[in-house]
Amino acid sequence: MTPGATGRGTGFTLLTGEKMRLLVTGGYGFIGSNFIRHVLNRHTDVEIVNVDSLSYGSNPSNLKNLEGDKRYRFVRGSICDTGLMGELVKNVDAIVNFAAESHVDRSIADPWPFFRSNTEGVLVILEAIRRNNGNAKLVQVGTDESYGDILEGSFKEEDRLKPSSPYAASKASADLFCLAYHRTYGLNVCITRCTNNFGPYQFPEKLIPKTIIRAMLNFRIPIYGSGRNVRDWIYVSDHCEALDTVLRKGRKGETYNIAGGNEFSNLQIVSRILELMGRPMDLIEFVEDRPGHDVRYSLDSSKIRSELGWSPRHRFEESLRTTVEWYIANEWWWRPLAGEQVLHPTPWKLKW
Ligand SMILES: NC(=O)c1ccc[n+]([C@@H]2O[C@H](COP(=O)([O-])OP(=O)(O)OC[C@H]3O[C@@H](n4cnc5c(N)ncnc54)[C@H](O)[C@@H]3O)[C@@H](O)[C@H]2O)c1
Repeated sequence: MTPGATGRGTGFTLLTGEKMRLLVTGGYGFIGSNFIRHVLNRHTDVEIVNVDSLSYGSNPSNLKNLEGDKRYRFVRGSICDTGLMGELVKNVDAIVNFAAESHVDRSIADPWPFFRSNTEGVLVILEAIRRNNGNAKLVQVGTDESYGDILEGSFKEEDRLKPSSPYAASKASADLFCLAYHRTYGLNVCITRCTNNFGPYQFPEKLIPKTIIRAMLNFRIPIYGSGRNVRDWIYVSDHCEALDTVLRKGRKGETYNIAGGNEFSNLQIVSRILELMGRPMDLIEFVEDRPGHDVRYSLDSSKIRSELGWSPRHRFEESLRTTVEWYIANEWWWRPLAGEQVLHPTPWKLKW
């Protein structure tokens, strides 16, 4: 058994005593697929079932290399399916929930799918655990966007949630349900809130992949507003390691902020990518800002660092270079996923 899988305060005991049986939801998405690979590479004593509805952010080829690995199994389905989730949670030690609609712009155009998957889906998981396997631990993968923006300083875990977009509101609501289920029913829940991720297998519509792809194609790169909005960036494998740490050592009912410590404006990020790729800065085109666009996100992650001993291992500059190289080398992966917003030569006009 992996050291730290059980212990005081984690309220976490393996059902089998030997293997950790893990249900990963949304495991065909960007972070979920990186997490599954990370866990299977790191631990031999683990079995993973991945349930994913194959919504637009997913891609089965993200986990192509696991075909034939007996420790891994895929089930197609939605976390909103009460019957399915009831069955799946029965035989697991823990659930890590990545399943979500994740694109902020899409949530502004149509919030309903976000409410269903991100809020209602989490309630379905909590009920499935409560009714079928009250010992299972849930790690709810949340976001810094739930706190809203902050001009100076950094949010701590106990700060008020003040989401700006429908996406952030749906994620914040899920966190509140998790806390309520811990308090009322004693469920073993941990919530994580992480800053912006980047790395291989990120859907082409997101800022970093979109910039790399459009720069490769010599297309103009759209930036919302003045480009001064600041985000803190974390390399996806550092996030995966933090989640694995919370899964094994996180205390029942606790929330952990996960931050990369790399704050940059969108303009700085895009400029750095263009520099790395040897493309001219005049490819940048400023476009109409996103409504309710948060100015700055920032998290204080001292709790996970001091209590659980996690800290990010990867340097931003090297990871950004690795990511650029990955997209250049893996056109087979992103080409079938990239829609009009990425592949049209002139920046699009979004209808908010
Ligand atoms: N990407 C980031 O920077 C970031 C930062 C902090 C937190 N998060 C959170 O991490 C999680 C994963 O984000 P991501 O960027 O990998 O997203 P993604 O869009 O790449 O992946 C989401 C996955 O969830 C699946 N899914 C959606 N609805 C589902 C449902 N009802 N049932 C089953 N599967 C469903 C999709 O098919 C997809 O495979 C999300 O919960 C997101 O809120 C992301």
